[in-house]
Amino acid sequence: MAPTTGRRVVRKKAATATTTPTSPASSPTTTKKASEPVLQNKVAEVPDKSYFTTYKPRKINGHVDLDLLAYALATKSNVLIEGPTGTGKTSLAMAFAAKHNMPFYSISSNAASDPSQFLGRHVPDENGNFPWQDGPATDIVRHGGVLLLNEIGFMPDRIKSALFGLLDKRRKIELVDHKGEVITAGDNVLIIADNNPDYEGVRPLNKAFRNRFAVQMFFDYDPNIESKLVQSKQLLELAKKMREQITAGLFETPVSTNMLMEFEQVGVALSVEFAIENFVNHFALDEQAAVRQAVKTYEANLKRDIAAIIVRQTGEVEKPGDNDWGTGENWSSQGYTFDPNDFFSDAELKGKSRAEMIEAGKGTGMSISALRAMDDNELREFLKGNHDWWKN
Ligand SMILES: Nc1ncnc2c1ncn2[C@@H]1O[C@H](COP(=O)(O)OP(=O)(O)OP(=O)(O)O)[C@@H](O)[C@H]1O
Ligand SMILES: [Mg+2]
Repeated sequence: MAPTTGRRVVRKKAATATTTPTSPASSPTTTKKASEPVLQNKVAEVPDKSYFTTYKPRKINGHVDLDLLAYALATKSNVLIEGPTGTGKTSLAMAFAAKHNMPFYSISSNAASDPSQFLGRHVPDENGNFPWQDGPATDIVRHGGVLLLNEIGFMPDRIKSALFGLLDKRRKIELVDHKGEVITAGDNVLIIADNNPDYEGVRPLNKAFRNRFAVQMFFDYDPNIESKLVQSKQLLELAKKMREQITAGLFETPVSTNMLMEFEQVGVALSVEFAIENFVNHFALDEQAAVRQAVKTYEANLKRDIAAIIVRQTGEVEKPGDNDWGTGENWSSQGYTFDPNDFFSDAELKGKSRAEMIEAGKGTGMSISALRAMDDNELREFLKGNHDWWKN
């Protein structure tokens, strides 16, 4: 395609062109899912189906995690899931409940919680009486559901002791505040505890307590699962490198699966620059410089990946013809010359918003994905003609 009148038509470098699909990708339907499971619901509720449909199961010694929970439910075994933050421990419990239409409740382990919050209490009514009201955990023990004991390593003893009877063979809870009523868990009750042994302040679980969990699994960051949750190969590569550095003792803050998911989401919605700084902010202050340096070495490749994701999600690709100049060879070999007057001046760019600059950039023939991957400064320089693509 020959340059026409108006703004200069610019041929892209091969590397950029390769990220451009030939036809608009059908935009995937994105199921909106809460980024962090809701843990403080006052009643036990069946989680939204999306917790199951978006969950990526993992294999543990040849068995699918969801199947292991089904086994535990069938055999009335308690489940202990341990592993670092963001590996999907809570997600698995919620996915299972969503899959089987079971009410779910998570007992939070913060030290301020009182057993009455989950077991129940007498609540005043309009007649001045104080009838008993089951708490969400009692509701599940009575009627079935999935009960998660969240971060059990932080759980204060008075909370644990209220649950001891439920965790052993008796599977009973006693409602001391409700005339000592004793309830035995029915067939449809699954009790899961999760624990992150790396957290500061977590006490090791004692042997007797640990023995109450017949099914135990350890979750670590799983590249297989992450490759299904994160599209950018470069981001996965970066995570791998950084985790090697953590193992080597260079820094401590874990690179969690959801940090990668957030990076990608923020990169697509806002910009890669913002995603990088946002990512760096997750680390301890004394780690941030090293992390920033590690990420910066991937910046160009991350931009390319994110641009490709935007194209896949929005279907925003070049119009047919914009890219049919082939790739690789030097544009000048095709006889095109650039007139400096075709570029924007500072005055013309003054006050232009990012959206307007991208719009203007479209007139150059540069792909929208490549334009969106540039930060504001790069865009401005590009429109002024100060860009490597012109120089070589
Ligand atoms: N297997 C998975 N499938 C789908 N999403 C996942 C999976 N694993 C992790 N995630 C994503 O990561 C986020 C954090 O996961 P989750 O809260 O389940 O981790 P966790 O192991 O319970 O972490 P913490 O120890 O900090 O509580 C989830 O909200 C979800 O978006
Ligand atoms: Mg959790």
